[in-house]
Amino acid sequence: MSTSDQMDRVVNLCKRRGLVFPSSEIYGGFRSTWDYGPLGVELKRNVKDAWWRAMVQLRDDVVGLDAAILMAPKVWEASGHLATFTDPLVDCRSCKERFRADHLPKSGACPNCGAKDSFTEARHFNLMFKTFVGPVEDDAAVAYLRPETAQGIFVNFANVQTTSRKKPPFGVAQIGKSFRNEITPGNFIFRTREFEQMEMEYFVPPEDADRWYEYWCQERLRWHLDLGIPESKLRLRPHDTEELSHYSTGTSDVEYEFPWGWGELEGIANRTDFDLKQHAQSSGQELTFFDQEHDRRYVPYVIEPALGADRATLAFLLAAYEEEDVPNGKGGTEKRTVLHLDPRLAPIKVAVLPLSRNERLTPVAEEIAGSLRSQFMIDVDTSGSIGRRYRRQDEVGTPYCVTVDFDTLDDQAVTVRDRDSMTQERIPVEGLVTYLRERLPW
Ligand code: GAP
Repeated sequence: MSTSDQMDRVVNLCKRRGLVFPSSEIYGGFRSTWDYGPLGVELKRNVKDAWWRAMVQLRDDVVGLDAAILMAPKVWEASGHLATFTDPLVDCRSCKERFRADHLPKSGACPNCGAKDSFTEARHFNLMFKTFVGPVEDDAAVAYLRPETAQGIFVNFANVQTTSRKKPPFGVAQIGKSFRNEITPGNFIFRTREFEQMEMEYFVPPEDADRWYEYWCQERLRWHLDLGIPESKLRLRPHDTEELSHYSTGTSDVEYEFPWGWGELEGIANRTDFDLKQHAQSSGQELTFFDQEHDRRYVPYVIEPALGADRATLAFLLAAYEEEDVPNGKGGTEKRTVLHLDPRLAPIKVAVLPLSRNERLTPVAEEIAGSLRSQFMIDVDTSGSIGRRYRRQDEVGTPYCVTVDFDTLDDQAVTVRDRDSMTQERIPVEGLVTYLRERLPW
């Protein structure tokens, strides 16, 4: 399967199985926006939960925050986003298409119509969405949709530090929507104008910033690997000086090898004391930390790992997707599509499949489903042959199928099938939750 085929097939699977739909589809869609369907919302929630668990729950040096999307416009003035959060925009004079100047091919030809040297001079285009707060649409009412969640953390630095009584090194994590008026959104959910970010600002003494930057680069790489992204598809790429954001002295991207090439999955940046200093100056509030032990006051430096929830979801889907030949039970082979998702990310953990809709089997299957429902996200599928139902679960990555058959009525046991190995085991109903719990840790 070629890599572009793989992308098409994943997008197709997402639509067909209710993971991701084109937004406003009945009106013909709306400019690279996407909606997460019943299975997609579970998958993305699991990605966010895995991040929150690793970044907040399992650490005693990081706390959470959920700040507002709309913030005082002064925030964006102080952070530098109003002045510098821009992309260079060019138009092709021939076909009128718009492009980011820094994304053009080296040949100088228009990627749309092929015209040579047809581009206008680059204009700087601010990526922040503007809106108005209240009924009057004048300059005093202008507000912006946040283009990163990070600023909500910086402006709450003192609130969080004093109420949580944390001392550097400590972090504040946040998951939430961000908005950027991207010139060229695309590649499905990779680059969109509305997306979710998972960001953590880690406040450290300035002299320790380099060490913590290295630490977070390795820690974040490890997170992706642990959740099933193969090592061969992942790399850490330090930015060149001219690539650095206005606030950063050092950034590395965790890159994934997408079907169209290597692309940024996550950025880890040393933001120095830029943001806290800017907000202190602009607001007149002191945003420092007093280190009693060494009797000194300082502005902490910040190391920031910032990951897109949608981009991460896409990478997990692509890495998990496989079409393989498997025995068809008649001496030949057949194709099966399977998502080898880490069980922690799988939208459905267990499918309960009564062999038939027989009146004696149905109540037993319902009782088993009832005992599992409070523990795991489950699905009950009663239609089609058992082989077809296995395939349906395989292609959305369900790790375990529990088949209830006529023997169950006599031996009070069920068949549990493993998605990846396709092996089957007979398990007593009594021990089923424990069996599954051991294999599905959370
Ligand atoms: N606070 C730092 C920051 O926002 P960024 O590299 O611009 O840094 C962090 O964004 C992550 O957010 C990216 O690595 C990517 O995963 C995700 N992201 C950024 N722009 C996006 C977009 N237009 N669509 C989807 N995800 C995006």
